[in-house]
Amino acid sequence: MNIAIFGTGSVGRTLAEKLVTQGHSVTVGTRNPAETLARTDTDMMGNGPFAPWHAANSSVQLDTFANAAAASEVILLATNGLGTLPSIEAAGIENIGSKIIIDISNPLDFSKGMPPTLFVSNDDSLGEQVQRAVPNARVVKSLNTLWGGLMVAPELLADGNHSVFVSGNDTDAKATVSSYLTNWFGWKPSSIVDLGDITTARGTEMYLPLWLRLFGATGSGLLNIHVVR
Ligand SMILES: NC(=O)c1ccc[n+]([C@@H]2O[C@H](COP(=O)([O-])OP(=O)(O)OC[C@H]3O[C@@H](n4cnc5c(N)ncnc54)[C@H](OP(=O)(O)O)[C@@H]3O)[C@@H](O)[C@H]2O)c1
Repeated sequence: MNIAIFGTGSVGRTLAEKLVTQGHSVTVGTRNPAETLARTDTDMMGNGPFAPWHAANSSVQLDTFANAAAASEVILLATNGLGTLPSIEAAGIENIGSKIIIDISNPLDFSKGMPPTLFVSNDDSLGEQVQRAVPNARVVKSLNTLWGGLMVAPELLADGNHSVFVSGNDTDAKATVSSYLTNWFGWKPSSIVDLGDITTARGTEMYLPLWLRLFGATGSGLLNIHVVR
């Protein structure tokens, strides 16, 4: 498949690495490819600059958000939360159309230091904002409750017996995304919890404050919740 990943951070890179090993054509979207390749800084999580990673993963294409969207059948949103809507705007509604968007981003605001706060919550969510920005697109919020390494390798914990959520208005799109979770990343169908329409993204986004405390308490992102009934 032709897959666009918006985001050059650790999540975008992790997803891209996994998907190209499976033979997919992956284009990572960024604001300005030349500037992204010229950067030499390390991000706040200690991830190195994009260029050395890209040199080691040269089958991954780097392009603008608009070109990445135009070339893709499905779009994975892995931008900084504050950059999510700007990335959609830059991509252009005409390049997104009715494609499936898997929104992995979280509405985290680091401007007041650690831990971050949520810049949208309670009666709205970033997932809903994305859906409103591109009404014809089929937005499915998923994977945002997991550390990037676990998104693409659920077997790293409890033999893969833990939970991942999908939220979205389009039932067929959620079924398609669930098949991607299984076929691309190895999630067991029994681990995938359909929460309902896109408003249920409020729940997974508002889980982040707890996830961040669990990360702080355990010192590792290799953790998850398992819904048992
Ligand atoms: N880290 C994790 O394990 C994890 C787990 C679950 C969910 N998430 C979520 O996944 C997303 C990506 O996280 P990350 O740590 O990989 O990367 P990140 O540093 O949060 O985001 C990097 C990306 O955001 C883009 N961006 C930043 N400001 C922008 C703006 N104003 N307009 C357009 N784009 C902008 C950057 O564009 P350029 O390429 O142009 O610089 C870059 O591609 C976040 O929303 C995060 O909350 C992360």
